[in-house]
Amino acid sequence: MTGIKTMGLYGNVERIMADLAAVGIADDAPLQVDDLVPFDQYHYHGAEAVDVAAAALGATTGQQVLDVGSGLGGPARYLADRTGATVTALELQPDLDAVARSLTQRCGLEPRVEHVNGNILDAELGDRLGAGRFDAMMSMLCILHIPDRPLLFERCAAALRGEGRVFVEDFYARGPFTAHEQDLLGHEVSCPYLPSLDAYRHDLEAAGFVHIVVEDMTEDWTWFVANRLEAFRDRRVELTRRYNQQTFDSLDRFYDAVSTLFAGGNLGGLRLTATRVT
Ligand SMILES: C[S@@+](CC[C@H](N)C(=O)[O-])C[C@H]1O[C@@H](n2cnc3c(N)ncnc32)[C@H](O)[C@@H]1O
Repeated sequence: MTGIKTMGLYGNVERIMADLAAVGIADDAPLQVDDLVPFDQYHYHGAEAVDVAAAALGATTGQQVLDVGSGLGGPARYLADRTGATVTALELQPDLDAVARSLTQRCGLEPRVEHVNGNILDAELGDRLGAGRFDAMMSMLCILHIPDRPLLFERCAAALRGEGRVFVEDFYARGPFTAHEQDLLGHEVSCPYLPSLDAYRHDLEAAGFVHIVVEDMTEDWTWFVANRLEAFRDRRVELTRRYNQQTFDSLDRFYDAVSTLFAGGNLGGLRLTATRVT
C-alpha cells in the first residue's frame, strides 16, 4: 500500500469535501450524483467516458457490474444512476473506499452501489465477491497499477458469468521507456510495468477473453493531460487555498509526470472491450 500512496492523486482524498464546500455543499448535506461528477472521476473525460463504458457493456437495469479499482466510486455511482444496473465498487485503498461509501450513502444509492475494500488479486476476495456473479466488468485507469496481468485477468474471468463483457481504460507501452520515464512511471504513477498492445492482447486471450477490440486513445489523452496540467496551474492560488500547499504540490507533480510521459510518445492510452469465452 505504501507504494501507491506516494502517488499525488491519492494523497488527501478528503479534498473532495473542500471541492463540494467550494460549490456551497456542506459536509453532511444530501447529494445528487451530478453534484459529484466534476470531482469524483479519477480518469479522463469524466462522465462522458462512463457513458462510453455503459454503451459498450450494454449496462441495464437488473445487471450486476463489477468496477475494478473504483476510486471514490464516481464511475460506479454514475453507471448505476444512469443505467439502473447494480454496481459493486471494488477499491484497494481503505481511505478512498471510506470516502466513496459515505458519498454513495449521501446519494441514497446504497441499494444499487455496493462498496468492497480489497485487492482484485486476492483469492479470498474472489470468494467474497462470488464466482460467476457479474454480467459485466469495467475498470478505468486501475490496471496500470497491477503488474501481474495473468493473475488479474484470471480473477476477472472468474468473477464474470456467461459471455460477460469487459470495458477497460488503461495505459500501454508504445515504445521502450527511457530511464527517466521508468522512474516517473514507477515513483509518480505507481506503474512498475506496462505491456505492449500485443502482450496486452495475449494476456487477455490466455485468460479466456475473445472479441478484443482496442481503441487507441493516445492522441486524445496526450491533449487531455496537457490541458489538465495547464488548467490546474492557472488556478494555483485558488486551489492552494482550497486544499493546502502540500496537496496542491503533490497533485501538480502527478499531473506534470503524466503529461511529460504522454508527451514523450512512449506511453499509450487505450479503451478496450472484450468478452469472456464460455
Ligand atoms: C486512477 S484510479 C481510478 C479510479 C476510478 N476507476 C475512476 O476512474 O474514478 C485507480 C484506482 O484503482 C485502485 N487499485 C489499484 N490496484 C488495485 C487492486 N489491485 N485492486 C483493487 N483496486 C485497485 C487504486 O487504489 C485507485 O483508486
